Amino acid sequence: MYPRLSLLHLDELGEKRLARLRDLLDPAEREQAARFVFEANRLEYIAAHGLLRSLLAEETRRDGARLRFIRAGQGAKPRLDGAEGQGLDFNISHTSGLVVCALLRDGQLGVDAEYLGRNLDLSLARRFFAADEADWLEEQAEPAQAFVQLWTLKEALVKAVGQGIAMGLGSFSVRPDPPRLLRVDTPLLGKPERWRLWQTRPGDSYSLALAWCGADATTEPQIISPWALLP
Ligand SMILES: CC(C)(COP(=O)(O)OP(=O)(O)OC[C@H]1O[C@@H](n2cnc3c(N)ncnc32)[C@H](O)[C@@H]1OP(=O)(O)O)[C@@H](O)C(=O)NCCC(=O)NCCS
Repeated sequence: MYPRLSLLHLDELGEKRLARLRDLLDPAEREQAARFVFEANRLEYIAAHGLLRSLLAEETRRDGARLRFIRAGQGAKPRLDGAEGQGLDFNISHTSGLVVCALLRDGQLGVDAEYLGRNLDLSLARRFFAADEADWLEEQAEPAQAFVQLWTLKEALVKAVGQGIAMGLGSFSVRPDPPRLLRVDTPLLGKPERWRLWQTRPGDSYSLALAWCGADATTEPQIISPWALLP
């Protein structure tokens, strides 16, 4: 089973395509978009949610503008309402100039993207990551980039299970190059072998990680061009 993934650099979007993505949003999403103080955040939000609707529309053969989302509670992972949402998991991530959407049938999936040029406090690793990850980071020639690689892998996993970082980032250990899950100490993830991890560096400026599990899970996602999705 392939996860399907689409990513979009905001500087490639243009006014016409942005307008088409905005047209897909529902009233609540438009209100949310209008609330952002910074224009860049507004554009990211519109692009991420418009692209998600386009990807889900293609998958479910429904009108993307009519899809409805539900959440089990505040902070819970969004789901698709109705029969079209059955057995379908999806996730989005947006960060300085890049948006990513991914979906998977009959499994769990999470995605995370971060800008590699962020100012980071690397001591966060010692406080929040597993001890072996913090040790590994200290040995790296480029610890800031290695930190973001670990961070995106870990976020993709916690987003796959839908818990958010509240589940404890120290309860499992990952490594990049190649991306792998070494140790799990939480029933939320189950056995490490259940999980597939995939990581890339879009435009050399971002780290993007995808985590998924499911029957017959493949080792690579299928990448869908956003321009093939936009109506
Ligand atoms: C949700 C969270 C993982 C987002 O990570 P982030 O790096 O800040 O942001 P990203 O752009 O990568 O992802 C945001 C998207 O993840 C999705 N998302 C929200 N909650 C989620 C969850 N619990 N699990 C998976 N995905 C979630 C949403 O689609 C969100 O997009 P939106 O805010 O535009 O609607 C992180 O902020 C977090 O852990 N928050 C705490 C959640 C929490 O407390 N949950 C408690 C559950 S009881």
